[in-house]
Amino acid sequence: MRTLIVNIKTLAGVCSGEAIRLQGAQMAQLGQIENAWLLVEDEHIAGYGEMSTCPTHHQQADIEVDATGCMVLPSWCDPHTHIVYAGSREAEFVDKIKGMSYAEIARRGGGILNSADLLHTLSEEQLYNQAVTRAWEMIRKGTGCIEIKSGYGLNTADELKMLRVIQRMKETLPVHIVSTFLGAHAVGRQYTQPQYVDLIVNEMIPEVGKERLADYIDVFCDKGFFTTDETSRILEAGARWGMRPKIHADELASSGGVEVGVAHHALSVDHLESMADEQIETLRGSDTMPTALPGTSFFLNMPFAPGRKMIDAGLGLAVASDYNPGSTPSGDMKFVVSLACIKMRLLPEEAINAATLNAAYAMGLSKEYGSITVGKVANFFITTPIPSVSFIPYAYTSPLINRVFLRGKEV
Ligand code: NIG
Ligand code: FE
Repeated sequence: MRTLIVNIKTLAGVCSGEAIRLQGAQMAQLGQIENAWLLVEDEHIAGYGEMSTCPTHHQQADIEVDATGCMVLPSWCDPHTHIVYAGSREAEFVDKIKGMSYAEIARRGGGILNSADLLHTLSEEQLYNQAVTRAWEMIRKGTGCIEIKSGYGLNTADELKMLRVIQRMKETLPVHIVSTFLGAHAVGRQYTQPQYVDLIVNEMIPEVGKERLADYIDVFCDKGFFTTDETSRILEAGARWGMRPKIHADELASSGGVEVGVAHHALSVDHLESMADEQIETLRGSDTMPTALPGTSFFLNMPFAPGRKMIDAGLGLAVASDYNPGSTPSGDMKFVVSLACIKMRLLPEEAINAATLNAAYAMGLSKEYGSITVGKVANFFITTPIPSVSFIPYAYTSPLINRVFLRGKEV
């Protein structure tokens, strides 16, 4: 099956394929071809170029799409979500409006524990149906790869239930999904903290490992949640089953998560709203991708991660939605890109690279996804007619993502 997209006003996110992540000044370089074509063969990108070199004259395509006036971009990659959850938490949203903080709600037993109680009452089927609805909402908004975490189970059976739901989503949805075991999201109600850490290390990780239910392992390493020592112990246990870390770090306080993450060769350290200059130094020279979640800062009225500073210091940066019921009930990556520009002072090109190639890197997928590159999976979207790349984050609530292609097929 061959699909040819012709007369593309701008084909953006074009990349030779050698770069698996972009750092510092490279992040402002977003490869673009004006008046372009793009050829897809089955699931992969087979070629692209300027219209003057378009192959239609001698090679017939099965489907031809005229994209006059429109842009084509690689699909967003979303390397940090919690979309397998039960119900919603809008009562806490109202509590926050009245003045309570996220940390205060957690301390009185709400927050993550609230979601865990609700998740316990749902069957795997009910949980799957709710999560699939959220995944389709994200797909329609241009996302082509999603990382999904467990972490609302907080006992072995419910953590496994969540991970099996993610497994089923991997098998049934056109979007590429990777799974992360986040047993250490909060301490389950029936345990003390030391008991719960023992349970994660001695029971949950081996079970998850044996069933091969997680690609990565995460810990909410932060003030009021898990300490750096507990985090190290959990990450070491995960490493024995081949799970590389992706860490929740420096959200509520600068609390050592970045240092632990880098020491354990984490693929990403995420949140970073409270990170300081020392953590920027720690990340320099590492292969860990700092990942900002600007939707969380927006929704919780918290400081934004110092994205501009990190890029100016020569680091790479990824962004993710963090879609979850407590701190960001939204998986809209176009809005995340707008927030990265407006609140973190990223240039549109930097923000788009953060949400595509670098985001793919932060989920271990940048060899196959995240750019318009021959041989990569054909995940891309076509916009409505728009004047420029900068218009995408500028028009911050306009639904510009018009047609979505995943694995070469329109969805
Ligand atoms: O990434 N910070 C920790 N975990 C989630 C929030 C989870 C929740 O509140 O349900 C986050 O923001
Ligand atoms: Fe999170």
